[in-house]
Amino acid sequence: MIYTVVVLYLNLLIVHVAVTFDYNKPKWPVPYRRFDRRPDVDSFCEAIYPFCPTGDRDGRIPDLRDSDVISVYRLQTPVWEFKYGNLLGKMNIMHDAIGFSSSETGANFTMEWYELFQLGNCTFPHLRPDVYAPFWCNQGAACFFEGIDDLHWSQNGTLEKIGEITGKQFNEMARWVQNDNQTGIYYETWTVRSDPGPNATVWFESYDCSQFVHRTYRKLSQLGAKLSSRTQTNYTKIYLYSGEPAFLGNDSSIFGQPAL
Ligand SMILES: *[C@@H]1O[C@H](CO)[C@@H](O)[C@H](O)[C@H]1NC(C)=O
Ligand SMILES: *[C@@H]1O[C@H](CO)[C@@H](O)[C@H](O)[C@H]1NC(C)=O
Ligand SMILES: *[C@@H]1O[C@H](CO)[C@@H](O)[C@H](O)[C@H]1NC(C)=O
Ligand SMILES: *[C@@H]1O[C@H](CO)[C@@H](O)[C@H](O)[C@H]1NC(C)=O
Ligand SMILES: *[C@@H]1O[C@H](CO)[C@@H](O)[C@H](O)[C@H]1NC(C)=O
Ligand SMILES: *[C@@H]1O[C@H](CO)[C@@H](O)[C@H](O)[C@H]1NC(C)=O
Ligand SMILES: *[C@@H]1O[C@H](CO)[C@@H](O)[C@H](O)[C@H]1NC(C)=O
Repeated sequence: MIYTVVVLYLNLLIVHVAVTFDYNKPKWPVPYRRFDRRPDVDSFCEAIYPFCPTGDRDGRIPDLRDSDVISVYRLQTPVWEFKYGNLLGKMNIMHDAIGFSSSETGANFTMEWYELFQLGNCTFPHLRPDVYAPFWCNQGAACFFEGIDDLHWSQNGTLEKIGEITGKQFNEMARWVQNDNQTGIYYETWTVRSDPGPNATVWFESYDCSQFVHRTYRKLSQLGAKLSSRTQTNYTKIYLYSGEPAFLGNDSSIFGQPAL
């Protein structure tokens, strides 16, 4: 029963904003949809914890000297129940981030990607009395801020140096992060596959903090960086299994009301 409910939500997610669907012949997995810009947030969505409280308001990332040598750290820690409520706290979800420290200035930085309105709101939509279609508060974004809280990451998680990059590579990565942040705006909690086996078809990929970390590592290696971790990293994924999804229509055709 619970799966039916969840799959129903998922269909709604499909008809909503987050994916592009080729109406005639969907190719799986459906590519994550990129947008030109980030829309204003509806005032209905209110964060319990403010997003990126110590980051730059405009998301600026400092320019480092091209010749600087920057250490890169893999950061991982469990998401605690008190922070996100029962449902997701019980699943031992890990949160992933990346750390940087400049050898020239000694300054260090943390970079992570997470929900603007907490994980529960990116996982399930709201029903609002005045709105027919389920309503999502599911934006996610990159947060870059000065400092690495060593204790926070190392005590119950991981803080591991995985390589060094140049200031030039860092600056190029920074521009890529800002563009990625403006075009990839909705958090997707679920990875949806046809079955648990190794040859399953993936219908939808998740889009979350660990995906951001992977994209960033990929970008850094394209820029010529060599990163390697001595330990195996386990990333949290929440899987849903379902038959081939069918496109049901958009908000207007299903609920008689266009998306807000
Ligand atoms: C989700 O958003 C609603 C509306 O803004 C807010 O009241 C609620 O606390 C949020 N829930 C979670 C789990 O973040
Ligand atoms: C990403 O976008 C959010 C939401 O607009 C913004 O608060 C944040 O500063 C941006 N981060 C970066 C690194 O550009
Ligand atoms: C980051 O900087 C702080 C403050 O200087 C320091 O306590 C901490 O050890 C540094 N962490 C790393 C991983 O460089
Ligand atoms: C690490 O886990 C212990 C035991 O659960 C907890 O008391 C402590 O606050 C955690 N440390 C951090 C930095 O979250
Ligand atoms: C998965 O596919 C490979 C290659 O087609 C095949 O050798 C293997 O037996 C398949 N495994 C399962 C569990 O179906
Ligand atoms: C990762 O998962 C494997 C297999 O479940 C486990 O043996 C290993 O201890 C885990 N590693 C970490 C760092 O949690
Ligand atoms: C929603 O679907 C209807 C019927 O398929 C279509 O006419 C309409 O243009 C669509 N609206 C949007 C915003 O895509």
